[in-house]
Amino acid sequence: MTHRSEIRFLLNGRTVNLPTVPATQTLLDFLRLDRRLTGTKEGCAEGDCGACTVLVGRLHAGVLRYEAVNACIRFVASLDGCHVVTVEHLSGPDGALHPVQRAMVEHHGAQCGFCTPGIVMSLYALWMQTPEPTETQVETALQGNLCRCTGYAPIIRAAVAVSQYGTPEADHLTLERGRITAALLALQDSRRVETGPEDNRAILPADLGDFAAAYAEHPQATVIAGATDVGLWVTKFLRPISPAIFIAHLPELKAIEVSPGAITLGAGVSYSELKPLITQHLPHLAAYWDRIAGWQVRNMGTIGGNIANGSPIGDTPPVLIALGAEVTLRHGKARRSLPLEAFFIDYGKQDRRPGEFVESIRIPLPSAATRSAAYKISKRRDEDISAVAAGISVTVEAGIIRSARIALGGMAATPKRAAAAESALLGQPWNEASFAAAARAMAGDFAPLSDWRASAEYRMRVAQNLLRRFFLEQDGAPVRLSA
Ligand SMILES: Cc1cc2nc3c(=O)[nH]c(=O)nc-3n(C[C@H](O)[C@H](O)[C@H](O)COP(=O)(O)OP(=O)(O)OC[C@H]3O[C@@H](n4cnc5c(N)ncnc54)[C@H](O)[C@@H]3O)c2cc1C
Ligand code: FES
Ligand code: FES
Repeated sequence: MTHRSEIRFLLNGRTVNLPTVPATQTLLDFLRLDRRLTGTKEGCAEGDCGACTVLVGRLHAGVLRYEAVNACIRFVASLDGCHVVTVEHLSGPDGALHPVQRAMVEHHGAQCGFCTPGIVMSLYALWMQTPEPTETQVETALQGNLCRCTGYAPIIRAAVAVSQYGTPEADHLTLERGRITAALLALQDSRRVETGPEDNRAILPADLGDFAAAYAEHPQATVIAGATDVGLWVTKFLRPISPAIFIAHLPELKAIEVSPGAITLGAGVSYSELKPLITQHLPHLAAYWDRIAGWQVRNMGTIGGNIANGSPIGDTPPVLIALGAEVTLRHGKARRSLPLEAFFIDYGKQDRRPGEFVESIRIPLPSAATRSAAYKISKRRDEDISAVAAGISVTVEAGIIRSARIALGGMAATPKRAAAAESALLGQPWNEASFAAAARAMAGDFAPLSDWRASAEYRMRVAQNLLRRFFLEQDGAPVRLSA
């Protein structure tokens, strides 16, 4: 079958056909510069402020799902087959304000108004999923939206009050769901898309096999999943990424399988997509999960991207290593699996050869005898990168520690297990003295760096204290660090 070069998607009420799209063209530039839809604002251009928030709807097994995303780091090429909804689409044909907008006006949720369209779009996405949110749900939905003038109290009051102004059932995205779904289905043709000029090329494989073949053929290509790292390479560092292979649309990489002993997920599963299963099967990770980035980035960013980027401060590797996760890599038709900790060799160096990609991740579920916890230490509670991240899983039988897996991020050039601390725990009784000894042993496990996030001394002290905190919490001591 021949390739297609056109990128086709719906923008508000219309179909867009773009004959050619450079790989690096962002949705924000397209909206503001090409379409003059200037309601979507540019604040930071790096996914932090949320001024550029729009909704992107995509069919998942035939079901249309909308998510709030950052247009500044979302590439246009990745929108093939999607429905993009901007703030201009919210008001009715007669110009009447949308219930979210009315609530914002009547609760004085805006001053200069620069952040307001982005906040409205995040609240719109929340209202569609949760029409009567709690304050905590509103705060979580707004983690990725910054307002410099209004203060969040009136915005939160507005968010909680939206249901007084209308119901999602009467919203036009709900009423038009059948028509939009049919229009998106009509755009699907199962063909590979190759678009953009030769020096700024975008490839959208037709399926997983086509991705494996395309990457084996172009091993120098930039793989782009959620683009929450790669987006910044383009907007902040002006790095060339051509040819870029986009993979976020591939359903095979979105598969999640839960068996009695493990969860296996495709590398393209986003943080938000995994969250319900985290809450159900790995509840010790639920609060930690909500501290990864902000909502828009969690809607876009993938677990595979967080592993493949090889960062020593990525939040998922420490907690997944502590659970004994394995990663499956694929090159062409060949696959191999390895423990996740073995994937990280050195700073910027992973056990992944050119043209090989992360296909899936297998996370064993802890047994009833295993106690697990996850900790993130950062300067801000929300939307911040970790200074130290820790995953701890300890199995105790008849009061004796039978296994211990302790993995830390931010302490070395890679996410790394604390081998000496683990050995200090093995065979020891479950008590405070054993954990104090393990915390002392941890001093030999790492030689952390000082940087603007934290000093080496702080990192070591906090890592040791997390081990102590783990024991106290698991032992039932009243530990409460947040309100
Ligand atoms: C505002 C903001 C806040 C953030 N906060 C956090 C945070 O709190 N914690 C945190 O850990 N991270 C954070 N990040 C970083 C980022 O969101 C995560 O690392 C995310 O998981 C990356 O996933 P992605 O799908 O967006 O990756 P992409 O940007 O698409 O790709 C990242 C890297 O992985 C490669 N890649 C992606 N998928 C595959 C694959 N399947 N096989 C091989 N290579 C692949 C790409 O080529 C690239 O090198 C933040 C980012 C932003 C913009
Ligand atoms: S412009 Fe700040 S998040 Fe996009
Ligand atoms: S109202 Fe001015 S930045 Fe929010």
